[in-house]
Amino acid sequence: MAIRKVARLGHPMLRQPTRQLSKQEIKSPEVQRLVDDMIDTMHEYGGVGLAAPQVHEPLRLAVIEVEELNERYKIAVGQPLLVIFNAKVTVLDPTPYGFWEGCLSVPGLRGYVERPRKVRVDFLDRGAEPRSIVAEDFLATVFQHELDHLDGALYVDKISDRSRFAFVEEYQRFHMQEGGVAID
Ligand code: NI
Repeated sequence: MAIRKVARLGHPMLRQPTRQLSKQEIKSPEVQRLVDDMIDTMHEYGGVGLAAPQVHEPLRLAVIEVEELNERYKIAVGQPLLVIFNAKVTVLDPTPYGFWEGCLSVPGLRGYVERPRKVRVDFLDRGAEPRSIVAEDFLATVFQHELDHLDGALYVDKISDRSRFAFVEEYQRFHMQEGGVAID
C-alpha cells in the first residue's frame, strides 16, 4: 500500500476518458493494489472520495467513504467504504440540490454546484460483483462528483454562479453562513 501523487487541475489526465475493467482485471493483484493505494491516498488527504484519474490511472474506478458525523463537513450522514468499478449513474430526482464542493485535484478552493438530488449508481464492487446503491442529497453529490471524474469533468465546470467560487479562507469568511455544506 502506498500514497499516490494526486493530479491537479490542468493536468491532462484529469480530462481524459477512462475505460471499463473486465471482471478478471478487477480481481487482478495489480488492480487490487491500486484500490488499496487509492484508499490510503483518500485517507491521507482527508477526502470523502477519490477517482482513478486523480492518481493518473485512466480507469472507471472510484472509492468513496464518508464518516458519519465527520469533523470536517458536520454532516450526520455516512457512507461506509465503497469501491466502485464501471459505474453507471441514473438520475432518479432531477431537482437541483446545491453544495459548496471541493476537490483534492483543486486544492484550496470551494465552489457552489447544483446537481440532481437523487441518483442510482450501478457498479461492480471490489469482488467484481454487481451492486446498486441509491444516494440522496449530500451523498448524491459525493457520488456525482467522483463519477464525473471518470468522464473528465470537474466540479469547477459546473459552477453556474462564479461569485460563488472562492478560496477556502474567503469561503469561510463570506459564504459559509449562506448555507450549503462544503465537501471534498
Ligand atoms: Ni474531485
